Amino acid sequence: MNNFYKNKIKHYFNKAYKTYDDYCVVQNDASQRTLELLMRHTDHFEKIADFACGTGESTLKLIRQISHKKCYAIDFSDKLLHIASSKLPNTVSCILSDFDTPLFPNSSLGLISCNMGLQWSLNLGETLSLFNRYLTRNGYFAFSMPVTGNFPEMKAEFKSLLLPPEHIIDILNNSGFRLIANYSYKNVQLFESYYHALKSLQKIGANFSPKVNNKGLKRVNVREIFVEDCMVPKLTYHIGIYLCQKRFS
Ligand SMILES: C[S@@+](CC[C@H](N)C(=O)[O-])C[C@H]1O[C@@H](n2cnc3c(N)ncnc32)[C@H](O)[C@@H]1O
Repeated sequence: MNNFYKNKIKHYFNKAYKTYDDYCVVQNDASQRTLELLMRHTDHFEKIADFACGTGESTLKLIRQISHKKCYAIDFSDKLLHIASSKLPNTVSCILSDFDTPLFPNSSLGLISCNMGLQWSLNLGETLSLFNRYLTRNGYFAFSMPVTGNFPEMKAEFKSLLLPPEHIIDILNNSGFRLIANYSYKNVQLFESYYHALKSLQKIGANFSPKVNNKGLKRVNVREIFVEDCMVPKLTYHIGIYLCQKRFS
């Protein structure tokens, strides 16, 4: 079953490879916020890795702002990773891999970042425990992901279940991390129409509704997906930013 869902996720991200970079404003903003939180604490590392790097936009920000000797960019969507490898310098190794597949030796990375990727994990505790093993003593983990309350404009049956920030903190604790700082914020995106709002999700590959996926956007009554008839069609992203360190006990 896991493979079935992962292949679906991969399929929709791969389909968005031509449009992702033109539509990823919310992801870019989250990535910058995460780096700013990290840089209040430290900005010097040896080996760093950007998991779920997509087309490499988050990796570019990372390598420009964080001092490092070696960087790895990892994603399981081959078409997005291909774009990443065309825009990232040779000093970055792009690796086609699922973030749940063991990849690095234990205690080998000083920093792991993951921008807007962990909402796709099918078992966040397992994914985070694996990341924890990769980190050096006191290594850092910085990430962003949508949390409960994301897209209040949409009916529950059309969006994926997201975790509340307190639950994410519990999972971090149970996966061997010490939380340094976190906050959640809203990012409201306005659209010409509800159809354009849904299209914006398709353009970044975040086609999370099986109903929408099965019928295709053209054959679905987009008004049915939204909770109320707003004068201005919008999507309110609710995003959590987290900075943690490997706990050493
Ligand atoms: C919203 S994009 C974020 C991309 C990039 N970090 C950015 O900020 O633009 C989410 C990415 O997660 C990747 N992804 C989802 N599940 C994954 C998994 N199990 N292993 C590796 N990558 C995954 C997708 O392929 C996609 O590129």
